[in-house]
This record gives sequence, structure tokens and C-alpha cells, in this order.
Amino acid sequence: MLVLGIDTSCDDTSVSVYDAKENRVLSNIVSSQYSFHREFGGVVPEIAARKHAENIDLVFEEALEVAGVGVKDLNLISVTNRPGLLPALLVGLTFGKGLAYSLSVPFKAVHHIEAHIFSPFIGSEPEYPFIALVVSGGHTLIVLVEGFGSYSLLGKTLDDAVGEAYDKVAKLLGLGYPGGPVIDRLYREYDGKYLELPKPKVKGFNYSFSGIKTAVRRLVEKGYPAEQVAASFQETAVSYLIGKLKKALKETGVRRVAVSGGVSANSLLRERLKELDVDLYLPPLEYTSDNGAMVAYVGYRRFLIEGEDTLEVGALARCPIS
Ligand code: KG4
Ligand code: ZN
Repeated sequence: MLVLGIDTSCDDTSVSVYDAKENRVLSNIVSSQYSFHREFGGVVPEIAARKHAENIDLVFEEALEVAGVGVKDLNLISVTNRPGLLPALLVGLTFGKGLAYSLSVPFKAVHHIEAHIFSPFIGSEPEYPFIALVVSGGHTLIVLVEGFGSYSLLGKTLDDAVGEAYDKVAKLLGLGYPGGPVIDRLYREYDGKYLELPKPKVKGFNYSFSGIKTAVRRLVEKGYPAEQVAASFQETAVSYLIGKLKKALKETGVRRVAVSGGVSANSLLRERLKELDVDLYLPPLEYTSDNGAMVAYVGYRRFLIEGEDTLEVGALARCPIS
């Protein structure tokens, strides 16, 4: 069974062809829009939607070509329909529905966070239970996963997502967009002292990143060098992420951890995660940020359990995972 996975939830147009029987990704094409959003220091929904509309058929054709299959070989169309930027989501959703209708094949709508959660397992099968730490531009959450479809939200950010904090800090420092990769690089190059930044004290497994961001603004105003501020931010953000994760592991007794989302590409986060005494599952770099492969993987598994969705399904800007 060949599954098409489509994601246009934010600023990446992505289409993937996934061979479900072999549990193998045949192609995963991502067209990134970074250069169009750079001057605004963040994603502009209207621009994202227009660029998705311009690119989606090209990305789709390339996904088929790389996979070496024709459009009539597709057996299931799965598309992210929630949560995300509404106008951006609608492009992929409409494209996917049109394909499913014209090919008379089933259609499946996919939850973007569920897709991220399983991105470390594409090509394999997860063992349960595990703790999922989802760290992206739009989301920061800790979820207890006891089976496919069985999720308990343990904690989430109460304000900015960690990737969003990276992007805002980079903007304050004049480092461009997206902020994560450039701050990560500056951290690697820096070998001086770190500045003290506060770790907000919020209850349980929840996070808050807005206080760290404000503290960064003050350091910038005081004239500290960008490299030192960037490196100090990364040190604080990563140890904050790890601290709450450790707390969740201790309180649940779970010994498996799957980390996903754009920030899971971070080199320091990966280093610190590997020091934990757990079975660790990290996606390969190409599946850290938004991609169609994770949508196809999850869409197929949902289809097996609950069958197809009707083409009436709409897009949702917000939707909790549990
Ligand atoms: O998962 P993703 O593509 O988007 C959402 O679904 O939200 O994540 C994008 C985020 C951006 O905020 C970007 O700055 C961050 O991931 N990011 C990183 C790194 N690479 C990307 N953050 C920290 N370190 C990195 N190496
Ligand atoms: Zn995402």
C-alpha cells in the first residue's frame, strides 16, 4: 500500500511517498520558505499559504518522481489538518482531498503533533510506554504515550514554544530567521563564560519561555556580545528542557524517551539526552522539522484502526493532543 503524506501546517511544503507494507519511506520532499519569512523574523501566515499554493504541485510531482511511482499507484492520501496556521493548512488539505476524490482512494486527516511524536519511529515500530518530548517552533510538550492513540499530556509551555523562543532571541540579537540553527552554531563556537538567565518556576511539567526571552532582551540592552548571549540562552533553554523531562521520567517510572520537532535537531539537546539513562529515540535530521513522511506513517496507522475520513473534514488552528 502506497501512502501519500502531505504537510503544509507552517512554513514547509512537504510531500512524501511511504510504502506501508515495507514500512519504508520512498521519498520525502520539503520545500522550505525560510527566505520569504526572514525579513519578518517569523512566519507570516498569508505568505506561507501563498507559497504553499505556488509550490505544492511541484513538490508533489517531485515526491512521485523520486519514489519512482505514478499518481495512480497511490492507495491512501493522508494530510495534516490540525493544529497549525489555518490558511497554510487549508492548502495541503484541499490539495489532498482533491487527489483522494479524483483517484477514488481513501483520505485520512492527521494531527500534526501526533505525527511529530512518531517521527523517531518511521521505518520501525515503537515499544510502549514512552515519554514524548515535542519541541518545535509552535509546540513544546511532554506527553506520556501508552499506546498508539493513547496519550496523556503531562506538561506544555504556558507561553512561547521553545523554537519560537530561539527565533525571537535570534531576532533580538539580529541573527536572522530561523534562530535555532544559528544559535546552535554560535554555542559550538563560543568558549567563554555563560551569563545567568532565569529558569521560570512553573508548576509540574509545564514550561514557560517568555521570562528567559525578556532576560535576553535586558542583556542585549546592556550591550553583552551576541555570541555570549546566544550561548547562554542555549545553555539555559536546554537544561530547562532536560530538567522537566527528568522529572517526568522520575514520576512516571518510564524509561523510554522519544524527542521530536525542529528543536530536536539541536546539538546540545542531543548531547544531554544521550547522557540520560534511558532508551532514547531521536528522528534523523530530515524528520526533525515538518515533513510528509511522519504524516504518512501516522495516517496509515490511524487508517488501519478507524478507516477513512470523509472529505468534509476541516482544518483546525488549535487542537489538543489528548
Ligand atoms: O518542527 P518545526 O519545523 O516547526 C513547527 O512545527 O513548529 O520547527 C521549527 C523550529 C524553529 O523555531 C527553528 O528555530 C527550530 O525549530 N530549530 C532549532 C534547530 N534547528 C531548527 N532549534 C534549536 N536548534 C537547532 N539546531
Ligand atoms: Zn511541526
